Amino acid sequence: MSPQRAIVLVVFVLCYYGALASDPDPVQDFCIPNTEVVQSNFHQCKNSSAVTVDDFIFTGIKNPGKKLGKNEFLAVPVSSSVFPGLNTLGVSFVRADFGPGGVNVPHFHPRATETAFVIEGKIYSGFVDTTNRIFAKVIEKGEVMVFPRGLVHFQMNVGDSPATILGSFDSQNPGLMKIPNAVFGSDIQEELLEKAFGLSSKELGKLRKKFGTS
Ligand SMILES: *[C@@H]1O[C@H](CO)[C@@H](O)[C@H](O)[C@H]1NC(C)=O
Repeated sequence: MSPQRAIVLVVFVLCYYGALASDPDPVQDFCIPNTEVVQSNFHQCKNSSAVTVDDFIFTGIKNPGKKLGKNEFLAVPVSSSVFPGLNTLGVSFVRADFGPGGVNVPHFHPRATETAFVIEGKIYSGFVDTTNRIFAKVIEKGEVMVFPRGLVHFQMNVGDSPATILGSFDSQNPGLMKIPNAVFGSDIQEELLEKAFGLSSKELGKLRKKFGTS
């Protein structure tokens, strides 16, 4: 094989594996971060003799934070930063509770595919692909919808009672970008947003106020 062909082959193989990439494979059974030793963003693993069963248990999503009223929504993402037991394992999850009419605004996870299992209620649930085709339907208790990695998805409780889902991710840190907040809450220049969305300065001001972080 000529050197050129060998290079092409190597590049092809690297790209192929790149396309299959997810979180890296662990190189030990587990790695509970040792938060006492911090080297920039990277944590060493705790000495395994100091690890206990409680490092592998998370109790923070037993109950909804509070009883949700009409149009309310509350999501508790459980990534490795709140549940250190997940560190290096390539998975995480989220509990989302919806009052009647509650909405999980269009958003996406840059680093993970999500499966969303309906624990309770009836939820209009869907995503949009890169051709802007929508895949959406009302799903019920016990049903599961998958949201492919990086695609915009959304949910709304269309029942009369509270609804709950458990979302699972194939990344310990899936990331979350809410479309309204990313667009209207991020200090992108007003002129640009007015032109992009055909909004008056007053209309834009309302959206910025609603979705801004300040
Ligand atoms: C881990 O802890 C055990 C027991 O305290 C100790 O004997 C061992 O040297 C430690 N290992 C490391 C790498 O610090």
